[in-house]
Amino acid sequence: MARSTTSSNPTPRQGAHLQVLPGGRSNAATARKLAPAPAPSAGPFVKWVGGKTRLLEQLDPLLPREIARYVEPFVGGGAMFFHLHGKGALQHAALTDANLDVITAYQVIAGEVDLLIDALRLHERRYLRQDHDGRAAYFYQVRERHPVDIEMDAIERAARMLFLNRTCFNGLWRENKSGRFNTPHGRYARPQIVQAEKLRAAAGALDGVHIELRDFRRLPELVREQDLDFVYLDPPYHPISATSAFNAYAGGGFSARDQRELGEVCRELDRMGVRFMLSNSDCPLIREIYRGFEVDVVKAPRAVNCRGDRRGDVDEVVVRNTRRY
Ligand SMILES: C[S@@+](CC[C@H](N)C(=O)[O-])C[C@H]1O[C@@H](n2cnc3c(N)ncnc32)[C@H](O)[C@@H]1O
Repeated sequence: MARSTTSSNPTPRQGAHLQVLPGGRSNAATARKLAPAPAPSAGPFVKWVGGKTRLLEQLDPLLPREIARYVEPFVGGGAMFFHLHGKGALQHAALTDANLDVITAYQVIAGEVDLLIDALRLHERRYLRQDHDGRAAYFYQVRERHPVDIEMDAIERAARMLFLNRTCFNGLWRENKSGRFNTPHGRYARPQIVQAEKLRAAAGALDGVHIELRDFRRLPELVREQDLDFVYLDPPYHPISATSAFNAYAGGGFSARDQRELGEVCRELDRMGVRFMLSNSDCPLIREIYRGFEVDVVKAPRAVNCRGDRRGDVDEVVVRNTRRY
C-alpha cells in the first residue's frame, strides 16, 4: 500500500484586477505595483475530531527550530503538516494513519485531484437539488454503499468520504466496531461539498509526500527507512472521564494498552535519537507513561461531547524529548 506520490498540481494564481477608479482614472499603474493575490494556502480538507488547527498557536513555539524530514503517524486532518508546509521548511514528509478512508483521500488528492473534484461535483448536483428529506435519503444511500461490501475505486472512495464528511452531523467521522462510518445526516443549508480551490492547494502541498496506511506500531521502521528527523504524534486521546471519550476514528478504538504501546514507540524513537512531540489529554495514565520526558500544558477548547454546563477549555499535555532537540 506504500506509495510516494509524484504528481505536480499547480495551484491557480489570481492576478491583480484592473478597475476604473473614481474620476475615470484606471488603476493600471497601481496594478503593476501590486503583488498578485496569494494562492489559497493549503490546509486541512476534512473536518476531523481532535484537529489541531485551533491549537497551532500554542504548539508552534514548542516545535524544534529546524525540521527537514517530518513524519505525522496519526495524520487525520493534518493541521500540523499543513502548518509546517506553509512555513516552507520541509524537505520531505511522510503522513500515515490507520484509517483507510482518510489515507485514500490523501492519496487521491495528491495524485488525481481533478478527477476527485469531478466526482464531488456529481455528488453535489445530486444532493443539492433535493429538499431536506431527499438530501437525507441520498446521504444514507451513499453511507450504506460501503467499500467493505462492494468494489469501489480510490477516487469514488475518496469522494464518498469527503461528501459524507461535509454533509454528516458536525463533520464527525465515526466508525463502529466493524469499521463502518455511522454518523447521521447533518442539517447544513448549503454545505461546501466540492471546495475545488482548497483541494488543489492541498494537492500542491502533498506533491512528493509519502502517504501510507500504517499502524503506529510500525513507525520506527518508517523513521529508519526514510531517515526522518521529527515526529509529531497526535493519537486518539485517553479519556479524562467516562463521558469525554471520543476515539472511534477507526473501527478498533484506542485503548489504555494502545497508549502504553505508543509510549514504548516514543521511547524507541528517543533511543534512536529522533525528536518527537506528542499531544494527549492531561491525565494520570499519560503522565505516568511519559515520565522522564518534558511535559507542557496547553489549553484546548472542548470540542466533542460538550454539554452546556461543561463548556470552557481543557488542559492537554505536550510531551517532548527536548534533550534531543
Ligand atoms: C486526534 S486524531 C488526529 C488529528 C489530526 N492531528 C488533525 O489535526 O486532524 C487521531 C488519528 O489517529 C488515527 N488512528 C487511530 N488508531 C490508530 C493506529 N492504531 N495507528 C495509526 N493511526 C491511528 C485516527 O484514524 C485519527 O486520524
